[in-house]
Amino acid sequence: MAGRFGVIGCGYVGSAAARHFGLMGLEVTGTTTSPSRLQELCGIVEHPRIYRAGDSRSDASFLDSLDGLLIAIAPTTMSMEEDQYRSVYGTGVSALVESIKARQSDRPLHVSYLSSAGVYGNQFGEICDESSPIDRSNSANALLADAENAVLALNNFGTSACVLRLGGIYGPNKDIASYIRSASGQMVPKNGSHINAWVHLHDIVHGINFAFENRLHGIFNLVDDLQVSRRDLSNLLCDDHGLAPVIWDNHDRPEARIFNARVSNEKLKKLGFQPSVCSMLDPVVAA
Ligand SMILES: NC(=O)c1ccc[n+]([C@@H]2O[C@H](COP(=O)([O-])OP(=O)(O)OC[C@H]3O[C@@H](n4cnc5c(N)ncnc54)[C@H](OP(=O)(O)O)[C@@H]3O)[C@@H](O)[C@H]2O)c1
Repeated sequence: MAGRFGVIGCGYVGSAAARHFGLMGLEVTGTTTSPSRLQELCGIVEHPRIYRAGDSRSDASFLDSLDGLLIAIAPTTMSMEEDQYRSVYGTGVSALVESIKARQSDRPLHVSYLSSAGVYGNQFGEICDESSPIDRSNSANALLADAENAVLALNNFGTSACVLRLGGIYGPNKDIASYIRSASGQMVPKNGSHINAWVHLHDIVHGINFAFENRLHGIFNLVDDLQVSRRDLSNLLCDDHGLAPVIWDNHDRPEARIFNARVSNEKLKKLGFQPSVCSMLDPVVAA
């Protein structure tokens, strides 16, 4: 593979994708908002940059020379404060889209934007696919959906763009299976009957590569094959290690952001993309 690839947001996923494209022979530019991370980025990408989407002082001229771009930005505070969400997914993504439209280059660009399968919200545990309506009743979901639409609008401006809706991420240094097992015998204040979606880091990186190689446009769920409730997942993980089950609520807490959907990955599979990790129960998943 030849060409130039950019990764905006070299966090957990962005760094892994940047390393992958570097190994594939592309010249990679990667960004962080934080000067203290520049040194670390030097070990990951050829061209490290400080860039903050939404900050008018940030120089976006590096976009001009790219053939492919991954947008992998997320609020970096642990809290789900609405201001943080609004600044990244509202102001930040809109400003970035405007900078992409204003590129001073005729070089065709493909954009992949990472979103979340959480936008389906409460589908009452039913199967949903990319044509299912998203749940805008939650303000975070509504912001994520607006950000998706802003990126997809690039398709009307000569730039092919796709949205990859990720499940909850597991992988190296994100051993969700062990984290769930560590709650064995304890109460967790979440509805255990709800079905969530998951995906391994390895498959995210290969999904991003697939999207770039095939110049995908539109929306795609990038999730593994597991479609079970939190309770069933924790029972399987704990039984496996002879541990007592995790104890979940049977109801929703007020104000909880609900995600209860069997998210289908058929659309990507029909195009030829196969997740290599079926689920975190897969014995080959070391972490
Ligand atoms: N984590 C999950 O389970 C999950 C589930 C579904 C979807 N996703 C989506 O997957 C994507 C990547 O997640 P991740 O876990 O890799 O996130 P992460 O590790 O928290 O990294 C986020 C990156 O975004 C950068 N960033 C934050 N605000 C920015 C802004 N205004 N402009 C430019 N860059 C900005 C951060 O910069 P610094 O380097 O300065 O920190 C960091 O590099 C996100 O879009 C997230 O919504 C995640």
